[in-house]
Amino acid sequence: MTAPSYRVAAGGCVRGEVTIPGDKSVSHRSVLLGAIADGTTEVEGFLESEDCLATLAAMRAMGVEIERPAPGRVVIDGVGLGGLSAPAQALDMGNAGTALRLSMGLLAGQAFGATLCGDASLSRRPMERVAAPLRLMGARIDTTDGRPPVRVHGGATLTAIDYDLTVPSAQVKSAILLAALYAGGETSVTEHAVTRDHTERMLRAFGVEVRGSAGRVSIQGRQRLTGGFVRVPGDISSAAFFIVAATLAAEGGFLIRDVGVNPTRTGILDILKLMGADIRVGNRRLFGDEPVADLEVHASALTGIEVPRALVPLAIDEFPVLFVAAAAANGTTVVRGAEELRVKESDRILVMANGLRALGVDAEPLPDGMRITGGPIGAGHVDSHGDHRIAMAFTVAALKASAALEIRDVANVATSFPDFPALARHAGIAVDELR
Ligand code: S3P
Repeated sequence: MTAPSYRVAAGGCVRGEVTIPGDKSVSHRSVLLGAIADGTTEVEGFLESEDCLATLAAMRAMGVEIERPAPGRVVIDGVGLGGLSAPAQALDMGNAGTALRLSMGLLAGQAFGATLCGDASLSRRPMERVAAPLRLMGARIDTTDGRPPVRVHGGATLTAIDYDLTVPSAQVKSAILLAALYAGGETSVTEHAVTRDHTERMLRAFGVEVRGSAGRVSIQGRQRLTGGFVRVPGDISSAAFFIVAATLAAEGGFLIRDVGVNPTRTGILDILKLMGADIRVGNRRLFGDEPVADLEVHASALTGIEVPRALVPLAIDEFPVLFVAAAAANGTTVVRGAEELRVKESDRILVMANGLRALGVDAEPLPDGMRITGGPIGAGHVDSHGDHRIAMAFTVAALKASAALEIRDVANVATSFPDFPALARHAGIAVDELR
């Protein structure tokens, strides 16, 4: 069987409006927290992507009843902190790093053991960054040379830790906070770079007292969660493809509705604005504890910049499409301090540099980032290496390419954004799916 690809005609205009599907990070957390809460949790706007459905299946495999009464609606019958039961087989998290790493934290304090595995990409990704702090809490965890499959042994008694987060990772922070719910004493995590805080916000929404001051979050163990209602904002990481597309080729103002604008996620907006993008943030409101807005994006000429390092963790998933923006900009863009890109669903520095170079772009990979000088974007084929965000980023690049692009190995777009090809066509990007 050959992997599906996209054929994207070159050029075109982006017009009209789109509503972006639910946030992947928030959707994962709604199921994880709903599962261990007391009472029922109703989720609206749940992202029905392969990644989030892997989390949902894992919770079902541990005895949680979850219904899906309508598209985007999920009803979780919480079993309480101690109510999960041993899964009959290994929990397969597919492509989903968030599902696997956060589940390690959740499993660390259970009475039973479980094995977590994933697809070829996830099986290459580092897990010691999560296992190490959990072991300090008393958990017994085996990785396979630092990677999945991961075995979390049951029956450990967890105690609180005060942890210094050396890798800027919300997944590591969140795994520790989930384990902290099962630990005696107060656990604290100190971070040196701001990472997304959806876990902290949602824990509070479920009634958990989470104390925080600049760069430090603390949580007392054995607090119970109370189920409730979660309205999931649109995913700014999915909106990013349309923000860049509209910046490159909007005819009039392009409207992107219901986008989550949690300040720990809006690095993409700040970076593009520094490059000269015209992004207007309006209709600000809250979905529960998460800020949401509508974005109106007008076309504008971009200029290369040196991306401020402090913005890197706040835009960590957006670099594939930001590299495309840089390729279409005047002048040189330099990204440093982004070595985390090397351990995402693919090595995003290597794969993006290879793809851009295949299209004639002057892109120089750096150990911790990339140097890109904008100029004409050629045509031909690029390989996404099964990385959803790389497939979508090159789809956007076609707006400025000299002729059609073929993007190979795109099936994993369904891990985060199953509706992407349809929404892209709706917006004016001429993408066809070839199977
Ligand atoms: C995520 C955190 C980020 C991000 C991932 C989702 C999360 O990973 O890349 O797509 O939901 O916590 P790291 O925190 O490991 O950088």
